[in-house]
Amino acid sequence: MFCEGVKIEDVMTAVEEKRPFYLYSKSQLTRNYAAYARALQGMEYMVGYAVKANNNLKILEHLRAMGSSAVLVSGNELKLAMKAGFDPSRCVFNGNGKLLDELILAAKHNVLINVDSEFDLEQICEAGRIAGKQIKVLLRINPDVDPQVHPYIATGNKNSKFGIRNERLGWFLEQVKSHSDEVKLVGVHCHLGSTISKVSIFRDAAVLMVGYVDHIRSEGFEIQYLNIGGGLGIDYHHEGANYPTPTDLVNTVHDLLAGRDLTFIIEPGRSLVANAAVLVNRVTGVKSNGNKNFIVIDGSMSELIRPSLYGAYQHIELVSPPAAGAKRATFDVVGPVCESSDFLGKDRELPTPEKGAGIVVHDAGAYCMAMASTYNLRMRPPEYWVEEDGKTVTKIRHAENLDDHLRYFDGL
Ligand code: LLP
Repeated sequence: MFCEGVKIEDVMTAVEEKRPFYLYSKSQLTRNYAAYARALQGMEYMVGYAVKANNNLKILEHLRAMGSSAVLVSGNELKLAMKAGFDPSRCVFNGNGKLLDELILAAKHNVLINVDSEFDLEQICEAGRIAGKQIKVLLRINPDVDPQVHPYIATGNKNSKFGIRNERLGWFLEQVKSHSDEVKLVGVHCHLGSTISKVSIFRDAAVLMVGYVDHIRSEGFEIQYLNIGGGLGIDYHHEGANYPTPTDLVNTVHDLLAGRDLTFIIEPGRSLVANAAVLVNRVTGVKSNGNKNFIVIDGSMSELIRPSLYGAYQHIELVSPPAAGAKRATFDVVGPVCESSDFLGKDRELPTPEKGAGIVVHDAGAYCMAMASTYNLRMRPPEYWVEEDGKTVTKIRHAENLDDHLRYFDGL
């Protein structure tokens, strides 16, 4: 198996840490961003990379250099984005529980802020007063569209904690009008959910959202931005055929934007970074409990929690061809963490690997390292990428070590 021109087995031999690591393809990141830029060509647009998907500083710098903006959900993400060189006035701050100090920071740097609720608007106004700024805000509207995804990552339907309801819109418009020193309404936003696999779902939401734009404009507001969030899924099953692309997504809403003089904001996370990385692991051993077969690897739910948390499927493959005569069987691929939820894959048909063999979890660039924990004192893994020359491997994040943990007790 190769990452661009580099044999993954060679990387396993070369890296100093003998533990799981993330390996990215910088070229794949470039291709993913370029696919959005190409799809949006000729339109007024902003691609707001959802930093929560992967907050590696080097990756942020790379996306920024290609023209990306950033979508943020905490004050720390804002600070990191600024460190990576993003222009904060082209960033969006999002969330249902933003804190006053985060809002003040965002206000000072002219970040666009999404309004999520009544109390959120009150606090945004307070931040505007304190920072002495008129904050540009978008209303996050819950369009009540079913994204047909796992309930934990559905965010724009009627059970969701995010956004404002249609019936309350009038109240929000009045409030914005009467607080014009502190806030200026410049757009509307929605986010339906994540791993969405049908572009018709985005169209359904966009139809509603342009309706809101027209209505709000008729109330005398100058709406500049239509933000339809992120959420485009990727082909985790590696089934290939006809998975929607950024172009499919943009094409499905294009006619709705025509003639409306709007800057279109789109907030991809997963579809920019997920398929640009693998988690590289080693086989510790193979066992059977008489009922099930297990491949035990050195990676775990601490490094990559999506299968445990959402029952998510991520494709798993051996790095090198199996030894001649290796029997194929059905395995659960599990880590060493003391929980039965510690699995990377269930019921996978694989050749029986040798001890020490490399085994990768694919599509590990989004919500994997970003959601890694130190559970069982498994310190967070290092990250590498293959440079765009296709052959140079560079470390892009140090491994965390026990010393990092012990530092929290210094002087206590
Ligand atoms: N914009 C907003 C307001 C969001 O809440 C999200 C993701 C995005 C953009 C980016 O969505 P994407 O393009 O990545 O689907 N941890 C889960 C995913 C949670 C997504 C939350 N919101 C997972 O591992 O599947």
